[in-house]
Amino acid sequence: MANSEGEKLWGGRFVGSTDPIMEKFNASIGCDQRMWEADIRGSKAYVKALEKAKLVSTEEMDSVLQGMDQISVEWSKGVFVIKPGDEDIHTANERRLKELIGEPAGKLHTGRSRNDQVVTDMRLWLRDAIATLKGNALQLITTMVERAAVEIDVLFPGYTHMQRAQPIRWSHWILSHAVALSRDVEHLQEIRRRVNVLPLGSGAIAGTPFNIDRELLCAELAFEDISINSLDATGQRDFVAEFLFWASLCLTHLSKMAEDLMLYSTKEFSFLSLSDAYSTGSSLMPQKKNADSLELIRSKAGRVLGRCAGFMMTLKGLPSTYNKDLQEDKEAMFDCFDTVHAVLQVTTGVISTLKINQSVMEAALSPDMLATDLAYYLVRKGIPFREAHGLSGKAVYMAESKNIDLNQLTVDDLATISPLFESDVSSVWDYRRSVEQYSAPGGTAKSSVAAQVQHLRKWLQQQVQ
Ligand code: ARG
Repeated sequence: MANSEGEKLWGGRFVGSTDPIMEKFNASIGCDQRMWEADIRGSKAYVKALEKAKLVSTEEMDSVLQGMDQISVEWSKGVFVIKPGDEDIHTANERRLKELIGEPAGKLHTGRSRNDQVVTDMRLWLRDAIATLKGNALQLITTMVERAAVEIDVLFPGYTHMQRAQPIRWSHWILSHAVALSRDVEHLQEIRRRVNVLPLGSGAIAGTPFNIDRELLCAELAFEDISINSLDATGQRDFVAEFLFWASLCLTHLSKMAEDLMLYSTKEFSFLSLSDAYSTGSSLMPQKKNADSLELIRSKAGRVLGRCAGFMMTLKGLPSTYNKDLQEDKEAMFDCFDTVHAVLQVTTGVISTLKINQSVMEAALSPDMLATDLAYYLVRKGIPFREAHGLSGKAVYMAESKNIDLNQLTVDDLATISPLFESDVSSVWDYRRSVEQYSAPGGTAKSSVAAQVQHLRKWLQQQVQ
C-alpha cells in the first residue's frame, strides 16, 4: 500500500499506518492539485539552484527537468494519476518524478520544505489569477464606460435614502460604479506587488543551510523581491488575507450595483429590462421574469466575505511560523478567485445586454426634485442658502397643501413666500437645465460626465500598456 509507513515523504520516524480517516482529513490534494503548474515551475527553478550549489550534477538536473516536463504533459492532458498517499500536490509530483527518473528525484527536496514550497506555489498561482481578474475587471469597466458614452443624454431620478433626490444622468450612475471598479483594479495591482515575493529558500523555518542562490530562484520565477525572514515567509498568509478582502470589497461594489439594477428592473420602476439571457422564469408563475443574474451577483458578496472572515479567524489563533491550519488558505483563495471571475464576466454580460426605457426614466422625474433648484434661484438673487432652503421648503409645503405639483404654483403664490420670485422662475422647471448646472468636475452636467468618460478611457488605456 502506497500509504503505508515508510512510503510517505515524512514516514521515517512513524510506526504503523495512519488512520484512513485521518489520511483523508489531512490530505489537500483534492484542492491543491490546481497548483500543479506552479509546483512544477518551482521545482524546475529549485533544481537549477541545487545544481549551482553542486548538490546535484548537471545530468541529474537535466533528468529532473525532463521528468518535470513529462509530469507537466500528464497534468495538462488530464492523465496524471493521483495515487493513495499523494497527500498534496507537492507529494504527488515528487512521487511521480521518482517513478519516472528514479534516484535523482530524491535529491530535489534538499534544503527545501513543503512549508516554503507551498507558499511559493500559491504566490505563483495567485500572480496569474490576479492577471486574469484584472482582465475581467477591465472588460467590465470598458463595457460600462462605452455604454455611458452612448447613453449620455438620458436623465433619470437620482436617489438618496432610496428617496427621489435630484435629476441626474443615467451615465453618471453607470460611471459611479465604474469608478469604484477602477479603484478595485488599482487595489489589485498593489496587492500583486506584495504577492510577488519569493519565499523559496526559507526551508521549514530556519532558512537554508546550503548554498542555494535565492537571487537565481527569484529571477527564474520572475519574482520582484525575496522574502527577508524565513519564519515570516513560511508562516504568514497576509497576501491571501489581502486578496480575500479585495474580493469582498470588489463584490460589495458589484452587489450594490446589482441591487440598484434589480430595483430599476421591477415593474414598478420599469427603468430597464434585463436580457432574457440573464434572467430566468418561474416554474409556477408564467408571467415572471426574474433577475436571477443580479440576485446571484448580490449573493456572492456574502459568500466571499464569509471566506475572508473565516480565514482571518483561522489566522487569529495561530502561533508564529507554519501550522497546518494554514492549509485552509487554498480553498478560500480558489473559491474567491472562481467566484469573482464568474461574477465579473456575468456582470459584463448583464450590463452590455440590458435595455433601458428612456421615456419611463425621464417621466419618473418630478418637479419636487427641483426644490433645491428653487432655493438656488433665490441664492442667485443674493439670498443666503440657509434662508433660501427655508423659503423653498415653504413653497413645497404650499404645493402639498394645495395638492398640486411644485411647478404648478403661480408667480403670485410664490411671491407671497418671497418677493424675489418673478416670472423667470419658470426656467427652474426644466430638468435638462437643472442637470446642466452641475458642470464642476465630478458633476452630472453633460460636459462633466463626458469628462468622466474621457478620464476613464485614458485610465483604461494606461492599464493595458
Ligand atoms: N499541504 C500543505 C499545505 O497546504 C503543505 C505544507 C505541509 N507542510 C507540513 N509541514 N506538513 O499547507
